[in-house]
Amino acid sequence: AAGQPDEESRRGAFSSRRVFILAAIGSAVGLGNIWRFPYVAYENGGGAFVVPYLVALLTAGIPFLLLDYAIGHRYRGSAPLSFARLRRGTEGLGWWQVAICFVIAVYYAAVIAWALRYTFFSLDEAWGADPEGFFFGEFLQAGDVEVTADVVPGVLAPLALVWVAVLAIMVLGVQRGIGVTSVVFIPVLVLAFLVLVVQALLLPGAGAGLDALFTPDWSALTSASVWAAAFGQIFFSLSVGFGIMITYASYVRRREDMIGSGLVVGFSNSGFELLAGIGVFAALGFMAQAGGVPVGEVASGGIGLAFIAFPTIISEAPAGALIGVLFFGSLVIAGLTSLVSVIEVVISAVRDKFDTSRLTATLVVVVPLSVLSLVMFSTTSGIYVLDVVDHFVNQYGILVVALVSMLVVAWALRALPGLGDHLNVHGRPRVGAGWRTLTSVVAPVGLAVVLVLALRDDLT
Ligand code: PFF
Repeated sequence: AAGQPDEESRRGAFSSRRVFILAAIGSAVGLGNIWRFPYVAYENGGGAFVVPYLVALLTAGIPFLLLDYAIGHRYRGSAPLSFARLRRGTEGLGWWQVAICFVIAVYYAAVIAWALRYTFFSLDEAWGADPEGFFFGEFLQAGDVEVTADVVPGVLAPLALVWVAVLAIMVLGVQRGIGVTSVVFIPVLVLAFLVLVVQALLLPGAGAGLDALFTPDWSALTSASVWAAAFGQIFFSLSVGFGIMITYASYVRRREDMIGSGLVVGFSNSGFELLAGIGVFAALGFMAQAGGVPVGEVASGGIGLAFIAFPTIISEAPAGALIGVLFFGSLVIAGLTSLVSVIEVVISAVRDKFDTSRLTATLVVVVPLSVLSLVMFSTTSGIYVLDVVDHFVNQYGILVVALVSMLVVAWALRALPGLGDHLNVHGRPRVGAGWRTLTSVVAPVGLAVVLVLALRDDLT
């Protein structure tokens, strides 16, 4: 292998373990934590969801995260290069992950741009009395499916800004770009979100919202789809299985504890998720009370939560503008630090394969990405494409490649003992037979069940 300093100056590296941990948290904490987790938990047993969720985290999520770390940290390459070094012939798995990341980046950027615009809309409640009509009609002009000559006016500027920011971060590189962004923005995100949660808890009706979220439905524990939801949420939320953690781990200096880091990242991500659940449902409780309806009628996730429910809450709550700026600002930061992680998967793969400079690789990747994204989302709402692509990428693209790569590493290549030894050289607590069983049996079975149930849902 190349000498350490050479390799570092050529590929880039995080300057310390702390920076790596913050960048990994930045990737893990994304839209999934804020707008996906609360609703998934609510729908799948409420307080009882904590059981399958913790089981999924401890038996599959963290073990799988450590596997990704081990591959990237030991083989010191982008996803395709790491797989190729693990065993020739498996490089394709890495390229599959690269392709998924490319697709995700196109539409993830659009959601961040919407949130950026809405941060400012919060100041004057631009959505007026009808947030839903405003979002789909005026803002996205979602009636227009055809690509038209006129741009969707509200989206172009924020989307261009997102891409300029991404370009700047990516050109600056691993430490000065991604590292510094994470070190600055992750503490800001946590702070902003804490203030938001406190603010939400002070709203009338917050208690009812929390009751709705946390009241356990123990019968959920016997439902396979609830367990599948927990495993699905954990895999997505930790950003495992799609090349991100392999890539980031390849930028960590050799003598670092990857096991301890994985535990910190895993628990921080779940902590943020819990916090988001509290904040979101406290706010929904307020919305329900204001509308005189039960919380169940206003509970939602995804685009509906962020761009329809929250505007309503912001309009009605005392100090609504503050809530809006904190909420949408958090979405922007959480989204941006995840977006750069998926794009880095693509850039590092291009660099490793074609031996190009960081600047060249960044331009080769970010220019087409941004053009695609801008054409797609500023000339049509893109919302139909986004819905369909997001569903297929999340349900099948990621899950299938995660499952296949796990089976290949564990069973076809029998690589777990070697990877475990690698983690144990500097890592604590050590991993052993337990970890190998979890990664080779429990996590793949969890993934397979999620997949089968998703398929069944789509077919019926
Ligand atoms: N862990 C991220 C989240 O919870 O939102 C998942 C993710 C999605 C990461 C999309 C990166 C990304 F571009």
